[in-house]
Amino acid sequence: MAEIIDGKKISAQIKEEVKEEAAKLKKDGITVTLAVIQVGQDPASSVYVGNKKKACEYVGFRSLAYELPQETSQEELLNLIGDLNGRADVNGILVQLPLPGHISEEKVIQAISPDKDVDGFHVQNAGRLTVGMEGFVSCTPAGIIELLKRTGIGICGKECVVIGRSNIVGKPMAALLLRENGTVTVCHSRTKNLAEITARADILVAALGKPKFVTAKYVKEGAVVIDVGIHRGENNKLCGDVDFDSVAEKASYITPVPGGVGPMTIAMLMVNCLQSAKMGKKG
Ligand code: GUN
Repeated sequence: MAEIIDGKKISAQIKEEVKEEAAKLKKDGITVTLAVIQVGQDPASSVYVGNKKKACEYVGFRSLAYELPQETSQEELLNLIGDLNGRADVNGILVQLPLPGHISEEKVIQAISPDKDVDGFHVQNAGRLTVGMEGFVSCTPAGIIELLKRTGIGICGKECVVIGRSNIVGKPMAALLLRENGTVTVCHSRTKNLAEITARADILVAALGKPKFVTAKYVKEGAVVIDVGIHRGENNKLCGDVDFDSVAEKASYITPVPGGVGPMTIAMLMVNCLQSAKMGKKG
């Protein structure tokens, strides 16, 4: 039976560390500030945004909330981002995705100053990660690396398989595992013989977005299984991309849903905001 990796506990530790650092910055007269922009009222986005604001409050950051109507034009949104880019008192800018169809997510993300891009989505930060330069790293994959490290799971030399190739999770996850000297394979919807490849993994990251897709046949005995998915399943219960019950029998470590990767995303957002404020201090 696998050991459960407690994302709630590890994220709480990280938030405590951030809180301490934020208090130190406050003594120097710096209040770490995150601007959170939501366009429209997608219920899932409202929950995520609410949690981000709560986390800011908890660690002692200031959050500026911009709740814009669904009809907001792209130009209006870009103007707001331009204003926030220019404000010395704002360390991080986060535009909650998805955006309404009439707004280009790509244009919006690229409009955020790379120095305030605490989501790590800007092409400059994605490029920095790829070539091994310092920059903001997408919060979910960064959180997964922290989960592994703080659980004492080594990555160096391990067979790592990522299922999913999104810009937010799959691609940066692969880059981070490679940076830690893992041997990395990225699988996706066109991959042939998926189970054959995933069954080689010492570390398997499931970020494909299909409820309970990864069953025991995809998993090697003793593998570490990280579940990025979150879905509302039968009788309204949350589940991930991994079929927890069957995989937990075979894996050595597994993340639960909820309480695994999810809380780490927000903790790493706090880490990125702190990093931004410290960078600003150095000028
Ligand atoms: N929508 C779903 N996940 C995310 C995230 O990590 N950041 C932003 N900005 N939007 C999201």
